[in-house]
This record gives sequence, structure tokens and C-alpha cells, in this order.
Amino acid sequence: MMDKKIIFVVFATLGCILLTSALEVDTYDFLMPNVWPHRDELYLCTPIRISPHSNYYIVGFQPNATMNTAHHMLLYGCSEPGSNESVWSCGEMQTNEVDKMYNTASPCRSGSQIVYAWARDAPSLELPKDVGFLIGQNSPIKYLVLQVHYMHRFPEDKRDNSGVFLKYTKRRMPRQAGVILLGTSGLIAPQRVEHMETACTINENKVLHPFAFRTHTHSLGKLVTGYVVRQTETGDVWTLLGKKDPQLPQMFYPVVSTKPIERDDVLAARCIMNNTHDHVVRIGATNKDEMCNFYLMYWVENDTPLDQKYCFSVGPPYYYWNRARENLGNIPLSEI
Ligand SMILES: *[C@@H]1O[C@H](CO)[C@@H](O)[C@H](O)[C@H]1NC(C)=O
Ligand SMILES: *[C@@H]1O[C@H](CO)[C@@H](O)[C@H](O)[C@H]1NC(C)=O
Ligand SMILES: *[C@@H]1O[C@H](CO)[C@@H](O)[C@H](O)[C@H]1NC(C)=O
Repeated sequence: MMDKKIIFVVFATLGCILLTSALEVDTYDFLMPNVWPHRDELYLCTPIRISPHSNYYIVGFQPNATMNTAHHMLLYGCSEPGSNESVWSCGEMQTNEVDKMYNTASPCRSGSQIVYAWARDAPSLELPKDVGFLIGQNSPIKYLVLQVHYMHRFPEDKRDNSGVFLKYTKRRMPRQAGVILLGTSGLIAPQRVEHMETACTINENKVLHPFAFRTHTHSLGKLVTGYVVRQTETGDVWTLLGKKDPQLPQMFYPVVSTKPIERDDVLAARCIMNNTHDHVVRIGATNKDEMCNFYLMYWVENDTPLDQKYCFSVGPPYYYWNRARENLGNIPLSEI
């Protein structure tokens, strides 16, 4: 196991780097610390603690990885990291086996949100001008955790430094970025095409400018769509935010409509799943389970992002859009 001292050295070094960085955009190399992926399908996490005495804005992400080694990378913002070690095993799809080399924990212990995603063959996403993720003092994001999904075991003598070069500044960005995650619980009956749906009314008095979305399912997902619904006297107007085959690289893509989202608008997402198995498949955390997720990234002007970070329903067989308390009308037909 890694010595705990190492982490504090890492944290202290970061503190110094961040503190010396006034005004200009700086780069922090957030890389795996010479890890050895000792088996196939390994998820590893490594943390950085953000100095709690200053505000920083992440304004860009430059991936430093190749598709030959990393299947995907996710960057989580956390209030508390999942572990105090410098590296831990953090698979979303937990298998029950205990890892021989790394302790197992989730990426975040509390306050989890995704701030960046990279997947093989996918170009990187630039944040729009004047937009930044606030981290540190006045943000719930006190730590960043890098998760890398390694596909294959490395040879004995090879180590890895995949990661992200973070572009950050101490200069206040007028537009703060935020992410809201829409998803469901529920189950999919055997040999069935199922719609997993969720919807939530925005109750906070903010104007959201959507700019990117990401979808996530496991292997049964066929199509994931996200909408904003404006409920007017003449009926509900559904505007598509994004639509993606979740079997394609699961990174952030530009939204279809950047029209501002306001209080009382409804966010809605649907995953079309095809259960080709002879058994029920449930939403859950193992690789035998499924997931239905739609992430929406947005910015707010001279404001803080939504307190609401999640919009989840109980999913099928109990919840569908046509049973939502929002009383949704003009529900879109299935896209496939
Ligand atoms: C990441 O960057 C470092 C130098 O900063 C380099 O040595 C390393 O090979 C890079 N890793 C990958 C996977 O590109
Ligand atoms: C990490 O260490 C802190 C301080 O000792 C402790 O409060 C916290 O519970 C630890 N976190 C985990 C995930 O073990
Ligand atoms: C679901 O899977 C079955 C079996 O592979 C296939 O025949 C069917 O076309 C699929 N349906 C959809 C909507 O993808």
C-alpha cells in the first residue's frame, strides 16, 4: 500500500502551485502517479485537495491519455474523496472480488459531481468563453478525483501517467459551470424494450445556459435523450437538448439547443433499453446491472450553479413520463 505521507506531500505541493498562480491561466498536471494496472478492466482513482483558502476556476481540460491504455477518464468534484490513499480501486461496476493491490472505494465519499469526461477517439471539449468550474473556498468542490478505466493489464515493467492537464485561473469567471445528473432506478423485464424516464421541475430562481451533455448506460442502452419542457397555456413544448447512442464514446458533446432554461421549466430524460437477456436487469452498480444517466452541463451568469445536482425517478415499472406529477403533455414518441 502507498504510504499516507505521500498524499500529504502531493497536497502540500499542489497548495503551493495554486497559491503562486495569480491572474494568468495556469496548468496543473493531474496525472496518475506511476500506477501499474495489474489486471484487465481496472478503474483507478487519484485525488487532489484544493487549497480551501482560495477560489479557482477550471477553464479547460487537456487530456493526456491514449486510447490504447485508457478506455475512459472521468473527473469528479467531491466534498470528500472516497479514500485517503493516493491511489485506490474505484470501479463503478463493482465486482465482488477484492483487489489484491489497491483498496476499493467510490470516487467520492460525499458531494459527488462529474466535471469532465474523456473517452477514446473523442475530441476534447472546451468550456465556452468566460465559463469556469469554481473549486476551493466558496465551492462544495474541495477535492478533484481523477478516475481512469484501464482496459488491459500492463506488462510488469510498465507504469502509467494518464490524466488531464487542468487549465485554471484565480481570476473570477463571470459564468460558473454546473452539472445536473438525470437518471432512473427501476428494472427491465426479460426480452423487452423498456423506456426509463425521469423529469424534474427547476424550482430555483436561476437562468441556466446549457452547453454540453453526456449519456451513460451499460451494454443494454440503445438511445438516451434529454429535453427541456416549457409548460405553456397552449400545451407543453419539448425542446431536445441532446440525443446519443450510449454505445458511442461517452464524453460531453455540444447540446442541440442552447436556449436558456428558466425556473418552472422541466428537465426530462429517457433511456431506451433493450433487454436481450432471459432475466430481469435492474439499475445498479455491478457489471450485471444497468444505468440510465443523462448529464447536462450549463453555465449561470454572475450566479452559483443549481443546488439541485440530481433528478432521479424510481423508473419502470412504476414511473413513466405519462405518470409524472408535472402532468406532462405532448410526450415525444419513441425515437427508435
Ligand atoms: C502524460 O504526460 C507525461 C508528461 O507530462 C508523459 O510523460 C506521459 O507519457 C503522458 N502519458 C500519456 C498516456 O500520454
Ligand atoms: C480521511 O481522513 C480524515 C481525517 O483523518 C477522516 O476524517 C476521513 O474520514 C478519512 N476518509 C476516509 C474515506 O477514510
Ligand atoms: C432488441 O434486441 C433484439 C434482439 O437482438 C432485436 O431483434 C431488436 O431489434 C432490438 N430492438 C431494439 C429496439 O433495438
